[in-house]
Amino acid sequence: MAETMSPAIERTVPRVLMCAPTFFEVSYVINPWMTDHVHDTTSERSRRQWDALRDTVSRHADVALQPAAEGLPDMCFAANAGLVFGNTFVPSRFRYAERQGEEAHARAWFSRHGFDIVDIAEDVFFEGAGDALFDRGVSRRLWMGHGHRSDPAAASELATRLDIEVIPLKLADPRFYHLDTCFCPLVDGYTLYFPGAFDAASLASIEKHIAPHLRIPVSEHDALDFACNAVNLGKVVILNRAGPDLRSRLEGAGFMLIEVALDEFMKSGGAAKCLTLRLDEVTGV
Ligand code: ARG
Repeated sequence: MAETMSPAIERTVPRVLMCAPTFFEVSYVINPWMTDHVHDTTSERSRRQWDALRDTVSRHADVALQPAAEGLPDMCFAANAGLVFGNTFVPSRFRYAERQGEEAHARAWFSRHGFDIVDIAEDVFFEGAGDALFDRGVSRRLWMGHGHRSDPAAASELATRLDIEVIPLKLADPRFYHLDTCFCPLVDGYTLYFPGAFDAASLASIEKHIAPHLRIPVSEHDALDFACNAVNLGKVVILNRAGPDLRSRLEGAGFMLIEVALDEFMKSGGAAKCLTLRLDEVTGV
């Protein structure tokens, strides 16, 4: 839909990468969510839910599509392709062989689209924007989850190679195996997080770095509904589901919530945020 805009008020439209679930299924188990769901998804249902997410995201961002590849059922989780920082792309190095085939596809797509590829050391596991999330209040600050998928060494690798501050957070609950399942920086410095997913030192670090009025703790119930796995575009927050308390807390902070049912993808351990990858995560670097 065309929008009338005064040339004086320039609006930057966020850019987001997605990858259709053409070959999505649960055919192996690499996280606890997948355990009871092998061959339990249908392509009609996953396609319908993904289309609804893409349509919703498209109303608030420009969506680019990475072609899906046969035999790589988790490739629709675009967040795991790597980490985008300005025009730099740091490709993931997946822990499990089942997903390692995605690496070459991501590398090719980002080179083709003009990004500079910066690699971290070959022996360090790193699962991209699934575990590495930029703060949206403090510039050049990256929150880095480790303990399940990414190695702790990825934090220092990224700090050196990108010249940024990296705050490592140790994930302690196997259900929240990627940082983006339990932590979500929002604009203006607000941060959604499920306290039970972190070890004590990491929780203390979150509390030290984020002012109390900006912290939005999420209940276990909401966390299990993937409320922290939210796509934040300006003041819009797109997520699978949020309970009434969380909804009013977010609305009180000026956010508009949009729920998109993504239960078919939750069987694989993912929802809204990890089906997307922000392509303009940090600008002006
Ligand atoms: N089945 C996928 C895996 O275990 C789900 C990935 C979800 N991605 C995320 N960033 N949370 O790798």
